[in-house]
Amino acid sequence: MNYSEKVMDHFTNPRNVGEIPDADGVGEVGNAKCGDIMKMYLKIDGNTITDVKFKTFGCGAAIATSSMATEMIKGKTIEEALQLTNKAVMEALDGLPPVKVHCSVLAEEAVKAALTDYYTRQGVDAKLIVGEIPDCSECHAHD
Ligand code: FES
Repeated sequence: MNYSEKVMDHFTNPRNVGEIPDADGVGEVGNAKCGDIMKMYLKIDGNTITDVKFKTFGCGAAIATSSMATEMIKGKTIEEALQLTNKAVMEALDGLPPVKVHCSVLAEEAVKAALTDYYTRQGVDAKLIVGEIPDCSECHAHD
């Protein structure tokens, strides 16, 4: 399988790995078919994501896309983070092999799950802001 240099870089040297003990939002998503799990921690100040960390029990492509996704939302507003798509993350990584595209969805969903947790803790109906989080098992529909 051919991985871009950027994917290899983020896989071998992932950014923002770890956890935030006093996180303002924590999201965990899993892919039912491959069994991979992604956990995302956000620290939020006002409307800004001041820190983000992730932990995954997942494949190399999931690690690389999560690493890149955390870099792309750190220091950004919640609105900007909500607009992050797995496609944008893949483009930033110079692409992924087609059979690995579904792995990138895990990162996007984990960010959304963490923001859902953040709003729920504030007593806000997160669905109105974040929307429904699709079932990640569907990502494997074409395998
Ligand atoms: Fe499961 Fe990549 S194979 S996330």
